[in-house]
Order: sequence, then C-alpha cells, then structure tokens
Amino acid sequence: MKAIRTHDSTAGIAGLVYEDVPDAKAGLCEVLIKVVACGITHNELDWPIWTCRAGHRREAIIPGNEVSGVVAAVGFGTAGFAVGDEVFGLNDQLRDGAAAEYVAVEARNLARKPRSLDHIHAAAVPRAGLTAWQALFEHGKLEQGQTVVIHGAGGAVGSVAVQLAHWAGAHVIGTGRAHSRALATELGADRYIALDTDKLDEVAGQADLVVDTVGGEVLTGSSVVLRPGGTLVTIKADAAFPTDRDDITKIVFVQLPNRDQLAELARLIDEGQLRPQVGAVYPLAEAVSAFTAKSAGGLAGRMILQP
Ligand SMILES: NC(=O)c1ccc[n+]([C@@H]2O[C@H](COP(=O)([O-])OP(=O)(O)OC[C@H]3O[C@@H](n4cnc5c(N)ncnc54)[C@H](OP(=O)(O)O)[C@@H]3O)[C@@H](O)[C@H]2O)c1
Repeated sequence: MKAIRTHDSTAGIAGLVYEDVPDAKAGLCEVLIKVVACGITHNELDWPIWTCRAGHRREAIIPGNEVSGVVAAVGFGTAGFAVGDEVFGLNDQLRDGAAAEYVAVEARNLARKPRSLDHIHAAAVPRAGLTAWQALFEHGKLEQGQTVVIHGAGGAVGSVAVQLAHWAGAHVIGTGRAHSRALATELGADRYIALDTDKLDEVAGQADLVVDTVGGEVLTGSSVVLRPGGTLVTIKADAAFPTDRDDITKIVFVQLPNRDQLAELARLIDEGQLRPQVGAVYPLAEAVSAFTAKSAGGLAGRMILQP
C-alpha cells in the first residue's frame, strides 16, 4: 500500500516520504480501516514517538493518528464492527498512523462515525475532541457556571474546547491571535483576548480553569487570570508552568484514546452542538506541503490528508 513515512527521527517534516510500505493487517481485537481521511498535527513528529512501550526503537513511522474510514477487515476476537462500517477514531500514537491507504486500529479506540459528518470532518475530531474533553472535564473538572480561559481558541484543539465548554454552560474566554477572534466567538466564546494586542490581565482573577494549547509565555503568564484554587491544564509537554502561584493546581497531560468519549463527541456532533473545524485538505502524496502549511500558522482547525 502507499503511505507517508519517515525513517529519520531528526529530520522532521523534511524526512517524510511517499512510498510503498507493507500492507497493514488487522491483528487480535483490531480493525483494518480503508482510510478516507486522516488528521495530522503539525508538530507531531517532534513528540517522543520513536520508542515503543516495550523499549524497542521504531525504524519508521507513519504519522497521522486520527482516522475516518470504512472497515475493510476485522481481526480475530473483534466484536462490534463489521466490514463496511463507517468508523472514526484515534490510533495509539506509538503505532503506525493513518497517513496511508489502510491502517490497523485497536477496536477499543474506534467508534461509529457521526452520521451527520463526511469523513473529512470526522477525521478532524478524534485527537482534538478527546484532548479538549479530557482537558476540560477529566483534568479541569469544569462545571456549569464556571469561567474557563482557552488559549489557542482558533486551533484544532482550542476550537473544540470552546464549543464543549460553551455546551457545558461555562463562561468561555478564548485567547489567541487576532485572526481567530471571529471563529472563536462564532463557536461560543463569550469574550476573546487577542494576545497580539490585548493583555491577559484584562480578565485578572476571573478564571476557575485555564486550558492552554499554546505553551511558552502564554502558559507562564496565565497565573494572572486564575482565581485562588483554580486549575491550569496544559497540553504542551514542554510546559514551563508559572512559578508565582502555589494556590493553583497545575496539570500537563497527553490525551488517551477513549471509545466512550468518542461516542459522546459523535452524539454532540449529530445533535448540532459541536462543529469540527477543517483548515485544509491535501492529497496524501502532498503530506509535506500539508505539514508545512499548518506549521506556518494562521490555518484554523485541523489539517486533513486524503489517500
Ligand atoms: N498533550 C496532548 O495530548 C496534545 C494533544 C493535541 C495537541 N497537542 C499539542 O498542542 C498544541 C496545539 O495543537 P493543535 O492541534 O490545536 O494546534 P493548532 O491547530 O496549531 O492550534 C494552536 C492555536 O494556537 C495559536 N497560537 C500558537 N502560538 C500562539 C501565540 N504565541 N500566541 C497566540 N496564539 C498562538 C495558533 O494560531 P496560528 O495558527 O495563527 O499560529 C492556533 O490557533 C500543539 O503543540 C500540539 O502538538 C498536545
């Protein structure tokens, strides 16, 4: 089958090649998916993904762990899915991803594709949706009536977080670059702070929760917005937490696949509560251009590849 791969852990986007690779196969409790659309995160090649859990070094990586497609085969012991089902999900990031014609995914990491979405928009949901859900509700314990600040509100994760927080009845303050103001507001942000011109201290002491998808100085400067006892959740693994507050909870985490949460996201989508954002769609063979375009910034939502 055709796939995008990299064989070099130091080459970044430049190391991606479009090539023939061994066919993916469905193993125990797995599903083989004919990929219709694959979501990529522009800096995913920088993540610590070259060493498997057992400690083995991976020789090559197929990126893009978000997938939407059609079940082509089921492995031994796989119940609940049949050939022809339309599914979406998030593959374990230490396995080969979906930037390929086919991908094998553990069945527990898949759910039925939302009926109201095409595959392109469905592929924008799994990582962004699960990350936003887990940041807001699992780690951030967001409740109705609370105030949440979401940094990077126009991005793939941020734009879902804005909608989920709005749905949960929170007061939502989005932040990011000025160009994301219109989108964040349309998706449910009650207020928007453009970090290129405005200051976070406009909302000093107001937030019960901060969800950060930007990191750097934006994360470090976040302590000003939190109430005493508030929570700061970041998804930036190289997080430099603010050091000036010992009365807040600071959490950094990496999202996990979760079928129940995927199914809940699909339900919200089909009810019209959640609208995934697609920045652009590229042919699989042009993955390098897709990664490069998204890395340049200014492209809202998720970048999608199509075999
Ligand atoms: N820990 C986890 O589980 C997890 C899960 C998913 C993603 N991530 C990481 O989280 C980050 C966000 O992911 P994503 O897919 O949502 O990326 P994204 O779509 O690029 O979203 C990031 C958003 O933040 C904005 N932004 C970036 N730098 C900014 C700055 N200095 N000031 C103001 N706004 C800024 C971007 O605007 P522009 O487009 O204009 O730059 C964009 O709207 C990535 O680094 C990704 O690797 C972590």
